[in-house]
Amino acid sequence: PAMQNISGRSQLEKDLQATLGISRVIVTSGDSDVRSWVKKEMSQACVSEMIDTLEPNDVVAVAGGTTLATLATSVYPHPNLQNVTFVPARGGLGEDVDLQSNTICAELARGAHAQYRLLHVPDQLSDHAYDSVIQEPGIRELLALIRSPRMVIHSVGEAQTMATRRSADESKLRRLKEQEAIAEAFGYYFDSEGKVVQKEKTIGLQLDELGRDQMVVTLAGGMSKAEAIVAYMTYRPSDLLITDEGAATAIMGTQ
Ligand code: G3H
Repeated sequence: PAMQNISGRSQLEKDLQATLGISRVIVTSGDSDVRSWVKKEMSQACVSEMIDTLEPNDVVAVAGGTTLATLATSVYPHPNLQNVTFVPARGGLGEDVDLQSNTICAELARGAHAQYRLLHVPDQLSDHAYDSVIQEPGIRELLALIRSPRMVIHSVGEAQTMATRRSADESKLRRLKEQEAIAEAFGYYFDSEGKVVQKEKTIGLQLDELGRDQMVVTLAGGMSKAEAIVAYMTYRPSDLLITDEGAATAIMGTQ
């Protein structure tokens, strides 16, 4: 049954914290697969968290996708966000421009009256070009910011959905199926045990370099993402998961 009251949701939050091994979980009402306002509510919870946590001169790395695009339309100017710099977590990953982290990063900064830096590097580079581009002083300096931000905000997607949206060819889709890929985040694909099975070749944040100094906020909801969220959290439990009832009840139902 749909849980509409606050105490029901706070119980779900505690259950998810224990099941996924995450220190904090926020569950908003509804299911973002069904109603578009649900992503907006998750985004508003994320904006409150940003305002509470961030300090002047902090760097925030943001990923792409429709959930993060909603975050960008939900942010508003606040003194605590004014001197924050938003940076894109990784390159475009084959997404439409509206869903790329560069675009979301600029939109977030515009909405928050904050600063931003963009990563002007094409996605599909040969190894040779890649190696020389990352040696460029401007790129190196930006990559240093991207790789050790104060906060990372990202979503998680279902693997086949994400690969299809990024126009992956048949052989790539087949390979993901063979590898039993369940989840996608930052262009990394994970199986149900949280193992990275594929990685999009792009410049930017390296997941295995994230340390304790980075607060990782995962913003992902919808019943269809339940297994993907569990798989990703098996790889690396985030510091904060903001999700919705649709995903939360499905996750607890499958445990
Ligand atoms: O990178 C994209 C995310 O993994 C999921 O995207 O917010 O559109 O579901 P989404």
